[in-house]
Amino acid sequence: MKIKVGVIFGGESVEHEVSIITAVQAMNYMDQDKYEIVPIYVAKDRTWYTGKMLMEMDVYRNFDTLKRYAKKVTLVKTKEGFFLQSVTGLFRHNVAEIDIAFPVVHGKGAEDGSLAGFLDFIGIPYVGCNILGAALGQDKVVQRQLMELNEIPVPKYTWFYDTEYLTDTTKIMKEVKAIGYPVIVKPAKLGSSIGISIAKTEKELDACITEAITYDNKIIVEQVIPNILEVNCSVLGNHEFQETSALAEMLTKNQFLTFDDKYLSGGKGKLKSGIKAGNKMSTSEIVIPARISKKLEEKVRELSLKTFRALDLAGTVRIDFLINRETEEVYVNEPNTIPGSLAFYMWSSTKDYKTLLDDMITMAIKDYKNASKKTTSFDSNILSNFSGSKGMKNKIGR
Ligand SMILES: Nc1ncnc2c1ncn2[C@@H]1O[C@H](COP(=O)(O)OP(=O)(O)O)[C@@H](O)[C@H]1O
Ligand SMILES: [Mg+2]
Repeated sequence: MKIKVGVIFGGESVEHEVSIITAVQAMNYMDQDKYEIVPIYVAKDRTWYTGKMLMEMDVYRNFDTLKRYAKKVTLVKTKEGFFLQSVTGLFRHNVAEIDIAFPVVHGKGAEDGSLAGFLDFIGIPYVGCNILGAALGQDKVVQRQLMELNEIPVPKYTWFYDTEYLTDTTKIMKEVKAIGYPVIVKPAKLGSSIGISIAKTEKELDACITEAITYDNKIIVEQVIPNILEVNCSVLGNHEFQETSALAEMLTKNQFLTFDDKYLSGGKGKLKSGIKAGNKMSTSEIVIPARISKKLEEKVRELSLKTFRALDLAGTVRIDFLINRETEEVYVNEPNTIPGSLAFYMWSSTKDYKTLLDDMITMAIKDYKNASKKTTSFDSNILSNFSGSKGMKNKIGR
């Protein structure tokens, strides 16, 4: 019998469209002899839809048609298993069954652990990072703090909340000055380069922070790594097993990789669904393998595995590096827990996309089985001590 895989994508995030592209690509490459694919599209208003037509890119060009033909559903656990149930009409009924969920969401409110938490709470197995890994992957401040604790090099940085900046701007300006200009200002929990800009002076800094604050209440300001070379490494794995991909070198004509670099205008190739894919969804040039020395390559691989472990990651992630070409200093920039195109183009020399997806699902099923063997509760008579209204007055020291 085929394993029923519920691919969840979309969501409220600013990376909604990017998630659709990643998911449609993934669904079209999944082994359909082994897996029954159940697309689960979460619209921007958080309504969940299912239907086979959601595997086609064209459907997303007209939301009215999508709404008319796709079924509005919700995910529930019943005695028989996990089901998508229709939420229209008088009575709920099962529309599709799911054995395992496959989150293909990007950004805030989805990739950041929200979806992992929801799936954990229902109890359904799922592919990729757990809540902690996913949340760390989204917060550029906490991930850096944890990386520092694990002796993983990161650029010099400072961080603050928007309210702190507004109440004591001078203090924050001083902290940034200590880092040294130019600096790069980022909303701490966003992605796709949205709200990011470079400041060369204090005056520019204020404008950059004002812009970043419109996206997030937490801001990170860090040193701009000079003579920059951007290299990415994908890691596939879990706690037990990890594998690294070929390294990718990112080229851009802009000061840094912008949203347009990352996504606009697409590649050359075409998937059967009609979605432009090429070997990735981006206009920035990617060179694979990266043109770096053996020594640097080993360093990047070692730091990728260290980051994967320190941040409790799983699935196929992409770790992004910033390298100073002159000094050959290597810094981890950030992990991407659900990378665009699931980083499949970085694996092409060792495994095709179908195998990569298969490995991810197989690993998630194994992890779920292993986790189910752990003790999650123990018998106790704690409730018998709390009988009647008298018992309710007992104190709980927890
Ligand atoms: N410290 C830095 N020095 C130089 N360039 C940087 C630095 N941090 C980020 N960048 C550039 O900005 C881009 C986006 O920053 P990143 O932290 O990766 O944010 P996002 O989560 O939006 O991808 C990077 O791909 C890189 O080109
Ligand atoms: Mg990035």
